[in-house]
Amino acid sequence: MAKGFYISKTLGILAILLGVAAVSTIIALSVVYAQEKNRNAENSATAPTVPGTSATTSTIATTTVDEDKPWNQYRLPRSLIPDSYKVTLRPFLTPNDQGLYIFTGSSTVRFTCNQTTDVIIIHSKKLNYTEKQGHRVVLRALDGSQAPSILKTELVERTEYLVVHLQSFLVEGAQYEMDSEFQGELADDLAGFYRSEYMEGDVKKVVATTQMQAADARKSFPCFDEPAMKATFNITLIHLKDYVALSNMPPSGKQEDSDWRVTEFRPTPKMSTYLLAYIVSEFKSLESMSPNNVQIRIWARPSAIDKGHGLYALNVTGPILSFFADHYATPYPLEKSDQIALPDFNAGAMENWGLVTYRENALLFDPVSSSIGNKERVVTVVAHELAHQWFGNLVTLEWWNDLWLNEGFASYVEYLGADHAEPNWNLKDLIVLNDVYRVMAVDALASSHPLSSPANEVNTPAQISELFDTITYSKGASVIRMLSSFLTEDVFKQGLASYLHAFEYSNTIYLDLWEHLQKAVDNNAFKLPAPVRTIMDRWILQMGFPVITVNTATGDISQEHFLLDKESIVTRPSEFNYLWIVPISSIKNGEQQDNYWLNGSQKSQSDLFKASPNEWVLLNINVTGYYQVNYDNENWKKIQNQLQTNRSVIPVINRAQIIYDSFNLASAQRIPVTLALNNTLFLSGETEYMPWEAALSSLNYFKLMFDRSEVYGPMRKYLRKQVIPLFSHFQSLTGNWTNRPETLTEQYNEVNAISTACSSGIQECKDLASRLFREWMANPSTNPIHPNLRSTVYCNAIAQGGEDEWEFAWEQFRNATLVNEADKLLSALACSNQVWILNRYLSYTLNSEYIRRQDATSTIVSIASNVVGQSLVWDFVRICGGGVGVSRVEAGGSFSFSNLIQGVTRRFSTEFELQQLEQFKADNMEIGFGSGTRALEQALEKTKANIKWVKENKEEVLRWFEQNSQ
Ligand SMILES: *[C@@H]1O[C@H](CO)[C@@H](O)[C@H](O)[C@H]1NC(C)=O
Ligand SMILES: *[C@@H]1O[C@H](CO)[C@@H](O)[C@H](O)[C@H]1NC(C)=O
Ligand SMILES: *[C@@H]1O[C@H](CO)[C@@H](O)[C@H](O)[C@H]1NC(C)=O
Ligand SMILES: *[C@@H]1O[C@H](CO)[C@@H](O)[C@H](O)[C@H]1NC(C)=O
Ligand SMILES: [Zn+2]
Repeated sequence: MAKGFYISKTLGILAILLGVAAVSTIIALSVVYAQEKNRNAENSATAPTVPGTSATTSTIATTTVDEDKPWNQYRLPRSLIPDSYKVTLRPFLTPNDQGLYIFTGSSTVRFTCNQTTDVIIIHSKKLNYTEKQGHRVVLRALDGSQAPSILKTELVERTEYLVVHLQSFLVEGAQYEMDSEFQGELADDLAGFYRSEYMEGDVKKVVATTQMQAADARKSFPCFDEPAMKATFNITLIHLKDYVALSNMPPSGKQEDSDWRVTEFRPTPKMSTYLLAYIVSEFKSLESMSPNNVQIRIWARPSAIDKGHGLYALNVTGPILSFFADHYATPYPLEKSDQIALPDFNAGAMENWGLVTYRENALLFDPVSSSIGNKERVVTVVAHELAHQWFGNLVTLEWWNDLWLNEGFASYVEYLGADHAEPNWNLKDLIVLNDVYRVMAVDALASSHPLSSPANEVNTPAQISELFDTITYSKGASVIRMLSSFLTEDVFKQGLASYLHAFEYSNTIYLDLWEHLQKAVDNNAFKLPAPVRTIMDRWILQMGFPVITVNTATGDISQEHFLLDKESIVTRPSEFNYLWIVPISSIKNGEQQDNYWLNGSQKSQSDLFKASPNEWVLLNINVTGYYQVNYDNENWKKIQNQLQTNRSVIPVINRAQIIYDSFNLASAQRIPVTLALNNTLFLSGETEYMPWEAALSSLNYFKLMFDRSEVYGPMRKYLRKQVIPLFSHFQSLTGNWTNRPETLTEQYNEVNAISTACSSGIQECKDLASRLFREWMANPSTNPIHPNLRSTVYCNAIAQGGEDEWEFAWEQFRNATLVNEADKLLSALACSNQVWILNRYLSYTLNSEYIRRQDATSTIVSIASNVVGQSLVWDFVRICGGGVGVSRVEAGGSFSFSNLIQGVTRRFSTEFELQQLEQFKADNMEIGFGSGTRALEQALEKTKANIKWVKENKEEVLRWFEQNSQ
């Protein structure tokens, strides 16, 4: 897992580019996957390395395990249904005699016997029990009768169960209570009940906190740990009196007990175990009351609260809660909403009911040094988590195979909630860049997979963990947005509210939502070509998406499964033959036309798509449909002409779409590369962010392929020509760079303008960067550079500067206290043009006194992304390759050798480089490449594809840039 938004964003763009190139398909997949795990709010937190679930253990186990025994199956039997738990936990925030941080606990679970059985199977992981009356648990019947006596108890590690064997059978319909006392480790493993540490001055502080999703509540107390096993929970925490205890519910009372205090919380509503949370800390909070009388608090380290870093989250929470209460036509289900920023947190955030946990950078905002991008992240992640408080928490999917509906839904409505809090930011548009096109890059691969998986194919914690990928989040969001768009938001909201009312405090499968949407469709006599379920089946049960091809001479329209690599072989069969029921909106000559349905057939025809010689047609308004579009050559030309004469009749999102779709189509060899390049000509008159972002990310692949060749001169000249008007636009808009533009996208595009102007060699831009940087050097205590501009100004000033600039930035990095600031400097230091400086910087990555281990790989990759540093890093990797270097970066955890290999070989596109890479593989065969083995194979494959792409396109691309840079 990467550290923050910036790295994530870059990796995300990289993934799109790799995808665009149609070459590095699998690599793109894994990059997006890693990226998604960070950006997205919550995930299962830990790698699937749970003892007993790893591949090796289960293979060994299968030889000895009797799979018929219910305790050897990963899914709980339905014989016992929990009603209520009473759980008391006492975390110790100092180590015990053995140096171990532990917690002790006791628990009572009340359950009803639904089918008679002589065995109680309940989840339990890494807990040590105190025996009472010779057994780990005590059982009693609630009707006063004698409960069956216990034969023996055992812990089954592989399936993570505590199993209680009884001498006789439990009675169907009867209620029982089972008590236990246990002890567990309060480890720093970011899972279950765990500890997080931070420094306050020179003092180490410890927080006890939780991350239950997906399957770690069982690591905190014995429980029926599946989302459909909803129950009420009475939580009690025992802690030292200077600490604050928080849980899902408000406290019901406190009792003094010498230095220890007992905080008892009110019973929760019926809820799933994965949404439980409890935290003991010395944090402080900010507080307000929402219009509907919900208590809102933002918690963080005292120093962050004192500096006001929680204010922005506090400001947006009230409006977002009100928005969702209205959107769902359901009041917020609890009395309070706590949100807390944790120093150590594996996911981005987690939607625990009433006590949402966040990474610090997803909740805290520093008005002095954070950028607008940091702010966008806070408002969207908060909206995502609060959206779950109803959809997901109040109504919960039955099993993890439907995770895509929970996460896809929240990933869509987060834009609606955030838009309500920041109405001037056009946030709803950004889903097209951040989710739709990002996931299409992955979903266009033959190795993609459908959104929905059968419940019986998802069993082990490792299988559950695998579901938290970009398809789940971003394709889920894209198809739900499409559904809401073709139903209209009104009809969609009616169906949604009826679904939430029907299933509150219980569980559903995705078909239940379709059913309630269908009712809303029927009630409104809304016309659809087929039932909601029939339409949606095609989008969720088969992978991929269609490319729609239109012939405007005839009005013919057809669909085909879009694959970036035409030669790839799809081995996954689909009962729908990779045909979709596609909602098609369109514009003819600036006029919006009636909606049309391509009804599951391969081909069709309509006059809507037929154009006379002076008319053009454009499909998929605002990219609400999850598909790409290709036209006959004439129509492409007319669109280009329209863009250059009066682009305003084409919506801004479609101006981005035209670029994205055409570069994708060119990669898939469906149109010539020059047609895609022609679609960037209008940018000289464009000031909007979305089309620029589409072009810059699409062209970055060209930069990587050509920045060491004769193509780069003309390419740079072309970019310079295109960006000059944009640069001037922002220069005057900002009073010569003294103010920031107003809106979010303007602020983003200002950064694009500066970074493109500087990198394409516009002198005025270079002067601006050096001037700002020199002002800072003259007075290091006040940084005059606006946080938005820091990354690009630092990078350009260091690129143009020499030793002094570099040393200054290095010193600022060493002194930085804010992690956002340190990250910006660390990557900017790789921008130097001096070989010796880069070489020395490279050697610093081997010294953890200089650069933390976790940052080593990303720093090396930054150096490699600099064209000057590329070959240095390649030499470095070859020298340290199989030996010291690998083990060091391996130890760096999430930034592994595979990231390194991907980063270093991104430019590889010659036979010579391919040979070197093959040699490298041969030379290090014996030592092996650890987790980088697959990445190395992919790099070889990608290099070959790059060679092919360059060979086929170089001449044409060179000629095109030469002709168009004048
Ligand atoms: C939890 O508290 C409620 C309210 O006091 C009580 O009715 C319920 O029995 C308790 N649950 C358990 C398992 O003790
Ligand atoms: C109780 O058992 C019946 C019969 O096997 C089953 O259909 C039902 O789903 C069970 N109830 C619950 C709440 O699991
Ligand atoms: C649980 O028991 C095992 C085996 O005796 C021991 O190694 C471990 O430290 C114990 N854990 C705790 C938290 O006490
Ligand atoms: C929070 O809202 C207040 C009142 O509207 C405003 O003055 C303040 O600037 C806001 N703070 C942040 C960080 O957005
Ligand atoms: Zn989520």
